[in-house]
This record gives sequence, structure tokens and C-alpha cells, in this order.
Amino acid sequence: MNPTALLNIGWQRWRTHSILAVITVIGCYLAHLYAPYADLIYDLTYGCGYVAVILIAYSLLIGPYRLLWRKKNPVNINLRRDVGIWAGITGCIHVIAAIAMTTRGNIVYLFLRPKAEGIGYNLLLSPAGVSNNIGLVATIILVILLVLSNDYFLIKLKGKRWKFLQRFNYGLAVLAFIHTVLYQQLDNRSSTFVTFTYIFAIALLSIQLAGFFVSRTRRAKIRSPLQ
Ligand code: HEM
Repeated sequence: MNPTALLNIGWQRWRTHSILAVITVIGCYLAHLYAPYADLIYDLTYGCGYVAVILIAYSLLIGPYRLLWRKKNPVNINLRRDVGIWAGITGCIHVIAAIAMTTRGNIVYLFLRPKAEGIGYNLLLSPAGVSNNIGLVATIILVILLVLSNDYFLIKLKGKRWKFLQRFNYGLAVLAFIHTVLYQQLDNRSSTFVTFTYIFAIALLSIQLAGFFVSRTRRAKIRSPLQ
């Protein structure tokens, strides 16, 4: 991979990256306004956590939007790719900050608990443990998608295989939603946050379904053009 190609992405993509960076800073600032006496780690945990969830949802809206308003939907849309990259960046910052905030170096206890016999571990099945393990699977998908989000892998994996792997984004959205809702319950988050999260999820699901039916109808028309 040519490293200079990473910088040579055109001013439009630079502009998108700058806007997404500003959105991330605004997210952290809003977290600061929400809890003015909390520290930077708190702002990064909540600010970047919510920005990541919103960007994952937004990346899933770009495809159906184009499908509903325009005819073609190419394998790779730069905007979708750049939003996905920032979902990856903010998601990773959230994970590092959340681990720094909640553990004193013993990361294992976020996900596992020691067996009664003292040898080995079991999965931590408390609500926080379930939420952390779901978050962990989401993070693995997020990092894989982040690594694949460049021209090198787009060419190497060919369009179809690349697109297949990008579909893990749907699973990622579901896992991020469950992780967020579980922590909202645990943290007694205000009903505004919870309602906003559910409305967002229902809207996303509805638009995805509409996109799915439109693309199925169009494909059926192409197969039998006389109908
Ligand atoms: C190993 C992976 C992860 C771990 C260990 C983790 C850990 C945490 C923790 C500990 C909290 C609550 C902080 C507190 O109440 O003190 C939290 C909240 C949150 N996480 Fe994660 N997280 C992970 C992955 C993710 C991912 C991938 C996303 C989004 C894409 C995400 C989004 C959120 C959001 C939005 C909240 C705030 C929920 C609320 O309002 O209480 N997390 N996470």
C-alpha cells in the first residue's frame, strides 16, 4: 500500500473528515456540558460512545437514501466509507476511555469472572458483564471494518467480497444498540436519552426496510421488464 495515497484523497474527502472531526469534538463538549464536573476521560467515554453509535446508524442510512432518491447504489460510496472510518475512530477512543475509567488495570474483570475453584474464568453474566462482552464483539467488528475501509482492501478483496464484509455493519449496529441500552439502564440515564435512542433505532430500521423493498422491487423489474 502506498502511504502517500492515504493523504491524496481529494479536498472533498478532506472536508468530510474535517466535519466528522468537528462533530466528534462537539460530541465530547456536549458530554462535558451534561456533566460539567466530570473529567476528560468521562467526556471521551460518553462523547465518543454516542458519536460512534450515531455515525454507525448514519453510515447505514446513506445506502437506502441513495436507493430511494437515486437509481444506482455503487459498492463503495466515499461518504459512507469516511463516516465508517470515524465511527471506528470514535468507537476505539470510547473503548480505551471506558476501560481507563472503569478498571484499575485489570481489564479481564470487565468481561470474565474467576471460577470458584480459583483456576480459570467464566464469562461475566452480570448486566454490565453482558454489556461489556457485547461491546467487545462490536469493537472487533468495528476494528475489522476500519482496517478494510481503504482502496487497498477494496481492490484486493474485489467489490463483492468487500461488500459482503461491509454488511457486518448491520450486526455492529444491533450490538452497539444493545450495549448502549443496557448501560443506559445501569446508569439510570434520563428518559430523554433512552427515548432518543429507541426513536433513532426504529427510524433506522424503517428506512432500511424501505430500502430493502425498493431494491427488491427494482431487481424484480429488471428480471421481468414487461411487468
Ligand atoms: C470492549 C468494548 C467496550 C467496552 C468495554 C465498553 C464499556 C463501556 C462502559 C464501561 C460504559 C459505561 C461507562 C460508565 O457508566 O461509567 C459504556 C457506555 C457506553 N458505550 Fe461502550 N464499551 C465498549 C464498546 C462500545 C462500542 C463499540 C460502542 C459504540 C459503537 C459503545 C457505545 C457506548 C455508549 C453510547 C455508552 C453510553 C451509554 C449510557 O448512556 O450510559 N461502546 N461502555
